[in-house]
Amino acid sequence: MKLENFRMSNAQTLSQFLQAHQPTGAHSAEVIAAITALADAAVQIARLISAPNAEANLGAIKGSANADGDDQKALDVMADEAITDALRDAGVATYLSEEQDAPIALNAGGKIIVASDPLDGSSNIDTNVSVGTIFSVLDAAQGPLQAGRDQLAAGFFVYGPQTTLMLAMGAGAYAFQMDAAGAFWLQPWGESGDGRVTIAPDTSEFAINAANQRHWAPPIATYITDCLAGTNGPRERNFNMRWVGSLVADAWRIFRRGGVFLYPNDSRKGYNDGRLRLVYEAAPIAFIVKAAGGDATNGVTAILDIVPTQLHQRVPLVFGSANEVDVIAGYHD
Ligand code: AHG
Ligand code: MN
Ligand code: MN
Repeated sequence: MKLENFRMSNAQTLSQFLQAHQPTGAHSAEVIAAITALADAAVQIARLISAPNAEANLGAIKGSANADGDDQKALDVMADEAITDALRDAGVATYLSEEQDAPIALNAGGKIIVASDPLDGSSNIDTNVSVGTIFSVLDAAQGPLQAGRDQLAAGFFVYGPQTTLMLAMGAGAYAFQMDAAGAFWLQPWGESGDGRVTIAPDTSEFAINAANQRHWAPPIATYITDCLAGTNGPRERNFNMRWVGSLVADAWRIFRRGGVFLYPNDSRKGYNDGRLRLVYEAAPIAFIVKAAGGDATNGVTAILDIVPTQLHQRVPLVFGSANEVDVIAGYHD
């Protein structure tokens, strides 16, 4: 088979999919416009990352920090600017960004808010490891700080060997891959044949930054110890570990083959709520994971039930194969 001719005969583009699978929540036309605008921005970001342009030095530190105190990389800022412009043109009311201290007002009459981590995995930018963009679409009438359960849509792009999109709009989760021309094509995942993605309920693969082991609280420390004990331990089976350092890359793998991701709170200064941010990392990921039959908690409580009180607040995050997320909750009893 000549690879360049490979194309699924009945594949749908993202725009065809969005027409056929309307969002189940309010403001569906505005939600579709925002997702289309984000996909256009993602094409630009993907091309920027893969362009042989050493001068851009995308991983360079801008000498500025974001609200969470992270050093801003050139690509963080460039991605944020591309997304700001795309959302403004799409009529979105307000943009909540990891890279902006306060909400950005875009269109006075807009009906929806978009929250985004414009460049996830910044520490991987200059090591040629997959990075991505995470987004959450909210009803503007409910204000910027609302429970993740009320999201109208959520998705994330991965800029890696493939540029891909995982998307949920209230009913099911769907995977897309970008082609050389910048079109996103629905991927035929799942047995049902309609492309609906499901996360395997059980797994023997965990993702955690094991360098932080001495800082973990007992429930997580004991859970990992028991996994590492393998067939001779309480789990009676061997586990594998993966840790990319880009949430979107670990998440994509988990949608594809199951697994569980843990970024728990730990005793380091500033990590008493872990590292990941609720509004534009944990909540959108949790929305999509739940749509795919997985689960997402702060270790114990469903992420989607947590109402944010600050835009950049952190939350401990455990997500992936539902039965393994339950096992981890059991260690907190
Ligand atoms: P961001 O680059 O947007 O700050 O996100 C990085 C996050 C997440 O992508 C990843 O899972 C985690 O940071 C990695 O944290 P450590 O470097 O502490 O392992
Ligand atoms: Mn991130
Ligand atoms: Mn980021």
